[in-house]
Amino acid sequence: MKTIIEPFRIKSVEPIKFTTRDEREKILIESGYNPFLVRAEDVIIDLLTDSGTSAMSAKQWAGIMDGDESYAGSRSFYRFESAVRNITGDKFIIPTHQGRAAEKILFSIVGGKGKFIPNNTHFDTTRANVEFSGAEAVDLLVEVGKHPEIKADFKGNMDVEALDKFIAEKGAENIPVVMITITNNSGGGQPVSMQNIKETKAVCNKYGIPLFIDACRFAENAYFIKIREKGYENKSVREIAQEIFSYADGATMSAKKDALVNIGGFLSMNDEELAMKCRNLLIVTEGFPTYGGLAGRDLEAVAQGLEEILDEDYLHYRIKSTEYLGNKLTEAGVPIIEPPGGHAIYLDAKRFLPNVPANQFPGQAIACELYVVGGVRTVEIGSVMFGKYDSNGNHIAPPMELVRFAIPRRVYTQSHIDYVAEVVIEVFQNREKLKGLEFTYEAPMLRHFTAKFKPID
Ligand code: F0G
Repeated sequence: MKTIIEPFRIKSVEPIKFTTRDEREKILIESGYNPFLVRAEDVIIDLLTDSGTSAMSAKQWAGIMDGDESYAGSRSFYRFESAVRNITGDKFIIPTHQGRAAEKILFSIVGGKGKFIPNNTHFDTTRANVEFSGAEAVDLLVEVGKHPEIKADFKGNMDVEALDKFIAEKGAENIPVVMITITNNSGGGQPVSMQNIKETKAVCNKYGIPLFIDACRFAENAYFIKIREKGYENKSVREIAQEIFSYADGATMSAKKDALVNIGGFLSMNDEELAMKCRNLLIVTEGFPTYGGLAGRDLEAVAQGLEEILDEDYLHYRIKSTEYLGNKLTEAGVPIIEPPGGHAIYLDAKRFLPNVPANQFPGQAIACELYVVGGVRTVEIGSVMFGKYDSNGNHIAPPMELVRFAIPRRVYTQSHIDYVAEVVIEVFQNREKLKGLEFTYEAPMLRHFTAKFKPID
């Protein structure tokens, strides 16, 4: 096997500022041991998110110049609409400024008190928008998806039996929509199989409930189906993506992931009445239905990005390069969620730092050390992000303590990733020295963004 090379040449570069370990120690103290509060220019390799951080292609930048900024009926809208429709097959395509805006509109209409929204795993903004509407967000992930150390092909699958039981129990009239998130971001970037999407649709049909797809990383998911699911090896990724959406009644999407843009999103659906309601709300909150909170140039870039993302040489490189980082870490004994996901590697902080209890934030301690040792920025997905308190003020930990390394699309080369692996392995080899953290400031909601900490002696 030859080296898998980046399927692009670099035409425009962005310099990285190097800092020393001493400088980073000071920066970390000033930021209260919270990488969210570090300035991006003080980060060497930024793996905080793969969202909105893609490098656009020359053709996308050309589209930016070519964008039609007409308020109504812009040419760029029609190009965008036809690119989305080619994939989802839906009648109504509604642009939004990002994924959560699409979620906000959808759940403002279908959500509300007494309603339940099942999903394989809600992403935080999806959950927040469901809950903000008064409805309850319910995660029904298959059991295997909850065990980081078990290797399986489709750990993002919906537990279809549990879904059927749940709907029967709560009543179909209280479930306005079922959602599937592809790939399952909060569960380790793991894919959902075509079989599972079909079975989920069959349960939805049984009760007359529409199925919506949270499509942020649909192309990565479609590629996993091609290489892992029997019967799909000779289909094109575009055909696989089209088949996925053929089982759905609609979709929400953050174009900041698999449309390779820095901003954008959309709602896509077949139900005309629902689409009219969404458009009316869109006009109040986002903009006219042919731009929806975006500039014409942004729509142009999304349309082009949706073409490029289905390039199978790109997807091969994408999935293999994420796996490359995962393999380097597992070979060194570093515990991660296995197998590697599509857009990110997730360190299992419980096994990495078994002596630091959940209420001392082992994931956050690792994320801080990765920054000090190598200027690598990651994000904790564990007790800092999802921890709660019981009525006595005792900490309730979420099931997993993770550190996510999300890989921006087309941004870093293999040597950047080799460097990241070296940093992680060094931190892992010196893990006995790592201490837990305690809060010095904690906001009442979404505390991970603004929290400050100090090390426990
Ligand atoms: N759904 C999923 C599965 C996501 O991963 C995200 C964003 C959204 C919806 C919301 O989209 O940010 O455009 O409003 N995920 C980013 C992340 C923020 O870092 O994983 P958005």
